[in-house]
Amino acid sequence: MGKRGKKLLAPFLALLFFVSSAEVNGGSPFVRQEGDRVQRLPGQSFNVSFAHYAGYVTVNEDSGRALFYWFFEAVEDPVSKPLVLWLNGGPGCSSIAYGLAEEVGPFHVNADGQSLYLNPYSWNQVANILFLDSPVGVGFSYSNNSQDVLSNGDERTAKDSLIFLKKWFERFPQYKGQDFYLTGESYAGHYVPQLAQAIIRSQKLTGETSINLKGYMVGNALTDDFHDHYGVFQFMWSGGLISDQTYKLLNFFCDFQSFVHVSSECEKILDVASNELGTIDPYSILTPSCPGTVTFSKNKLLKRLHSFGRVGEKYDPCTEKHSTIYFNLPEVQKALHVNPVVAPSEWETCSDVVNENWKDSPRSVLHIYHELIHYGLRIWMFSGDTDAVIPVTSTRYNVDSLKLPTVTPWHAWYDDGQVGGWTQVYKGLTFVTVRGAGHEVPLHRPKQALVLFKSFLSGSPMPTLSEFVDS
Ligand SMILES: *[C@@H]1O[C@H](CO)[C@@H](O)[C@H](O)[C@H]1NC(C)=O
Ligand SMILES: *[C@@H]1O[C@H](CO)[C@@H](O)[C@H](O)[C@H]1NC(C)=O
Repeated sequence: MGKRGKKLLAPFLALLFFVSSAEVNGGSPFVRQEGDRVQRLPGQSFNVSFAHYAGYVTVNEDSGRALFYWFFEAVEDPVSKPLVLWLNGGPGCSSIAYGLAEEVGPFHVNADGQSLYLNPYSWNQVANILFLDSPVGVGFSYSNNSQDVLSNGDERTAKDSLIFLKKWFERFPQYKGQDFYLTGESYAGHYVPQLAQAIIRSQKLTGETSINLKGYMVGNALTDDFHDHYGVFQFMWSGGLISDQTYKLLNFFCDFQSFVHVSSECEKILDVASNELGTIDPYSILTPSCPGTVTFSKNKLLKRLHSFGRVGEKYDPCTEKHSTIYFNLPEVQKALHVNPVVAPSEWETCSDVVNENWKDSPRSVLHIYHELIHYGLRIWMFSGDTDAVIPVTSTRYNVDSLKLPTVTPWHAWYDDGQVGGWTQVYKGLTFVTVRGAGHEVPLHRPKQALVLFKSFLSGSPMPTLSEFVDS
């Protein structure tokens, strides 16, 4: 049966299974699925037309490691829509805190910390979106072995995430074989290609095809420590944020350092740079910062610590603080099926413990790009061009180093007749900048981010000016 037929049949099969198995078989995936369904949340004053589910998936029985997810079905006709996993970085930051509650998810938190509003540019307008808190120690994800949160690293994160996905598809079998994409930002520049590689390699071994991975997209993504450092310092210097002297010293002491495990010499000069930056928000250099929350120390380099003001759009620069109130409310945790026995004593947007105890972090993931481009995955990289943490210069050095043939040369793309950013299409990779967006592109430019997401999903280039003139 062709893909089309399968897609059309899927809803009927799902329904049939549900009706029959719910009655006869308590172990059915649809019963477990239904058990994860989230009803109305505290502070939710609106109705939604889509279903959503939250819960744990055990990824290691021996240690008792379980990852927490929150899954939003597409607004319309979910079984015919692609499935997309979103991951935030840190390492140690929650995809629910950032991806869901202030970027691409449908529910954002109001300033009172008690109520929600609907994000009109939510990515579940066009796809099913799965938010995963990864690895253990992040958000509501936990381990019953306390050593685990002190020994997280890239390799186990990828392995656990792969196990999570396999088991998640068992719980949501109606999405097996559906077009599947990975997305994420920042340190997820490691997680996403590593997980893509783990999926592809596992499939080659087992021949199992439930996870129908078609591609991935990463934003302001940590990719290669040398290029990323080099690009950061250049961006800060050319933007006039640091002195000539500091620029030289940063290049001398930090260019060849690991991003996550920094030498003390490099750390010293990063502190000098931090003082020169003042209290601007390095994650979004042109917008006001939430008062009293900005720091720029080496451990916090990749973290989302604080929020942003925004030029020209209505926006609350302290949204993270509101999420921290909301997700610590016992009634909210209850509604999300958080088990009080294993819940963190305090829910945090980013875990310092996870961040500061991070183990393996390879200096580059570019070799994975080579492998996966060769494999034929759809790969997009985007960059908010006012981020000074993993800036557009860094990503350009990374893309350039891949030495891919150009399909469509550098040109502006448009949204509503305005330049949304710039793009270049290479054989095997599409690069897109988003003008005026910081580190969290969908936070600053939600409308343009949805345009980007739609283009990525359809595999078509970013809109040009003529598309607007003609229509
Ligand atoms: C939500 O749905 C319920 C039940 O259909 C209805 O009574 C209520 O008025 C709706 N609320 C809003 C805000 O539309
Ligand atoms: C962790 O321990 C708690 C308390 O004993 C238990 O309820 C939970 O199922 C365990 N989690 C896992 C993943 O084994």
